[in-house]
Amino acid sequence: MKPSQPSVPDIKPRTPVVNFDREQFDSTHRVFAVEQVAPIVGMSPAFVRRVTGQADLLSPRDVLALLDQDAFRETYIPRSRILSFLQNDATRRSEQVVVAPNPETWDVRLGNALDLAAAIPTSSVQCVVTSTPYWGMRVYEDMQSVVWADGDVCPYGHEQTPEGFVRHTVEMLVAMSRVLTDDGSIWWNVMDTFMTRTQIRGNAAEALRAMQGKDSKRWHDHASRRYSAGHAFLKDGEQCLIPQMIAERASRAGLYVKTVITWAKRSSMPEPQNSRVSRNLEYVLHLAKQRTPKFFREPYLDTPAEFGGRNNGWETEKLSDVWTLNTSVGGKGHGAQFPVALPGRCIALTTEPGDLVLDPFVGSGTSGIAALHHQCRFIGIDASQTYLAIAKERLTDLDR
Ligand SMILES: C[S@@+](CC[C@H](N)C(=O)[O-])C[C@H]1O[C@@H](n2cnc3c(N)ncnc32)[C@H](O)[C@@H]1O
Repeated sequence: MKPSQPSVPDIKPRTPVVNFDREQFDSTHRVFAVEQVAPIVGMSPAFVRRVTGQADLLSPRDVLALLDQDAFRETYIPRSRILSFLQNDATRRSEQVVVAPNPETWDVRLGNALDLAAAIPTSSVQCVVTSTPYWGMRVYEDMQSVVWADGDVCPYGHEQTPEGFVRHTVEMLVAMSRVLTDDGSIWWNVMDTFMTRTQIRGNAAEALRAMQGKDSKRWHDHASRRYSAGHAFLKDGEQCLIPQMIAERASRAGLYVKTVITWAKRSSMPEPQNSRVSRNLEYVLHLAKQRTPKFFREPYLDTPAEFGGRNNGWETEKLSDVWTLNTSVGGKGHGAQFPVALPGRCIALTTEPGDLVLDPFVGSGTSGIAALHHQCRFIGIDASQTYLAIAKERLTDLDR
């Protein structure tokens, strides 16, 4: 059989070697607001003011002083590109604002989450709840490349390195933070990836068939493959720690990391591993704009388990940072669904009826079902026409 033409690029880890050219910024006279620079250099506005001695506006020299700090850690722009980003790119998405979705009940839109988030009014969303593509894990239907602020052009989840994926995730989170109300919450479901050489498949069932030796496709027959050699430090077989990196950088970008929740899955894929334990968890990052977001504990005990209440028999009466929830039974035409109970719990804990919930990677519409159950309004975004059709059908069925 002839190898099929890859529709999605392979992942071949490659950490670029880049020297930061300071000279080119010496003659620049632009100034930048402290609030604009802080989330990019990964420092709080107060710390930026302490380093530079400036209250409001920073010159390129001030920004260079920040880049020299031990406290510097990149968020969504690599260090070598920060000054050119501030000078050239910072406003590029806000120029694309088109219509502002403001649904009476629900609305789902086709497109890239970053572009469409720019069309949502500032501080209008009470709760963002989503399960993002995981790094190097799945080939989705109708995948599209995104032009990212760090200069990359690739589909989300198909970056060459985990660091690229973390940067793009933080760019998404900064966009979500703008649309979030001051007392709103972001719930970000993400799993880690091991740096291994593997075929990237469409869903868990395909991966399982391969583990059982039932996959007749050869390495080159797959649409997309992930290699493991070439990263600056990660070794073959090593766990990347992506959720933890995202949490730390979300904090540097100005969000509060309220809790890193462990989703202990009631069933997970077998892993034929002889040198490590099997993986049975995913993470849900609870992020907020302020220390005390809107938060209700009671629904944990009052809500039916399928919509996010306590999973009797597995969970105690204490609402803790370990959530023992079933995985999705699937079968809705999407290979990476989460169970309704997961977004259901997030929504129940942090919204009131009438609040607006957003899922920027809505897939088959699971979070919309949860939002409507909790009497919230809902906006879903997805880059795939195929999945969006499923989401529309599931949400329309609820209207009947
Ligand atoms: C993990 S799945 C979400 C599944 C969903 N929670 C469900 O239960 O069906 C991630 C989704 O992100 C979508 N996606 C990938 N890149 C995107 C982008 N740049 N903008 C919007 N959606 C994107 C994929 O099409 C996929 O449906």
